[in-house]
Amino acid sequence: MKNAITPTQHEKMMRENDFIVSKTDLTGRITYGNEIFIEFSGYTEQELIGAQHNIIRHPDMPRGVFKFLWDSIATGKEVFAYVKNMAKDGSFYWVFANVTPDYDSNGNIVGYFSVRRSPKRSAVATIETVYRLMIAAEQSAGPKDACNASLALLGKILEEKGLSYEELILAI
Ligand SMILES: Cc1cc2nc3c(=O)[nH]c(=O)nc-3n(C[C@H](O)[C@H](O)[C@H](O)COP(=O)(O)O)c2cc1C
Repeated sequence: MKNAITPTQHEKMMRENDFIVSKTDLTGRITYGNEIFIEFSGYTEQELIGAQHNIIRHPDMPRGVFKFLWDSIATGKEVFAYVKNMAKDGSFYWVFANVTPDYDSNGNIVGYFSVRRSPKRSAVATIETVYRLMIAAEQSAGPKDACNASLALLGKILEEKGLSYEELILAI
């Protein structure tokens, strides 16, 4: 059941050589997860396969980040993002994710692919601040305008820094 898990302050750290890999169909339903994904998520493979990928969504993640993710990959663009995920026991783990479309032999997008590695701690600290501001913007805008409000704020932060989204993510 979604939202039945209470987030805790316990953090699990990815090891330097870990890769967390998962694949989804076009709707974000999980079709594959590697062993490290199973380990960090705390779910069994049976629980993960067929579930929506938001099964590990953490409430500290701004909705705008996922809107940006979906808008990008649906048009064939890869995305790099820092993501805070929530395991089945409520603990959390930060990842640096690269999400890409998965194509068939005719060049049609048939699903998506995410490969995550251990994030730099300094980058997590920077992005946590940005996400906190984005969540605050979403809360004051209300559910209907949340994504637009937080993405507008992200745009303002990037403009002030003189960086594109990719430049910020790869620079921190
Ligand atoms: C390949 C792929 C990997 C994803 N990985 C994650 C993930 O690790 N954590 C997460 O919260 N959402 C992930 N998502 C995004 C989810 O599908 C979903 O949009 C997000 O959790 C927000 O959930 P909501 O739309 O119910 O608010 C992924 C999506 C795709 C296509």
